[in-house]
Amino acid sequence: MNPAPNLILVGPMGAGKTSIGRRLAERFGLEFVDVDQAIVEDVGSGIPAIFENVGEHGFRAHEKRVLAALLERGGQLVSTGGGAVLDADNRQRIRSRGFVVWLRVGVPAQLQRLQRDKCRPLLQREDREQVLRDMAALRDPLYREVADLILDTDAHSPVEATAQLVVRVAAQWQNPEFSA
Ligand code: S3P
Repeated sequence: MNPAPNLILVGPMGAGKTSIGRRLAERFGLEFVDVDQAIVEDVGSGIPAIFENVGEHGFRAHEKRVLAALLERGGQLVSTGGGAVLDADNRQRIRSRGFVVWLRVGVPAQLQRLQRDKCRPLLQREDREQVLRDMAALRDPLYREVADLILDTDAHSPVEATAQLVVRVAAQWQNPEFSA
């Protein structure tokens, strides 16, 4: 059994990290923490405004700082932004402070789930499909590097994906909330 202090979700935009994460947190008695939301609260402006003001580079610096602070704590389900794995220090922290689930999704399902999205600055362009394909090529090996468990979400609703994960995670992860 893996005794990591947190359950951490990684994966691309549209994989269902927030919708599955909230349900999974409840099932495991964990506090649900969304890193993007924590950044917004810490910085005092929304993700699009942060990208506008300080660019992706500045956003990544906020992401790294907020993620490091959150992972000092335990007993949480931490839903990370799709690009959090780009940074080697983030990957090291994610690995050492969490049991890590990679929620995987193919580009067609991503395009469908994100078709009305206006909040993700990296997707506000015409060539969304190519952007998502390039991201997957770069990031999939990094998700794989940190993952303890992988679930394909393409064909599943959040309720179905959560039900599958409850069984698989419980078999492999020693939840600190239940083992004190
Ligand atoms: C990003 C994913 C977003 C958010 C930001 C950048 C990315 O989070 O952190 O827009 O680089 O993939 P979600 O994966 O929760 O959408």
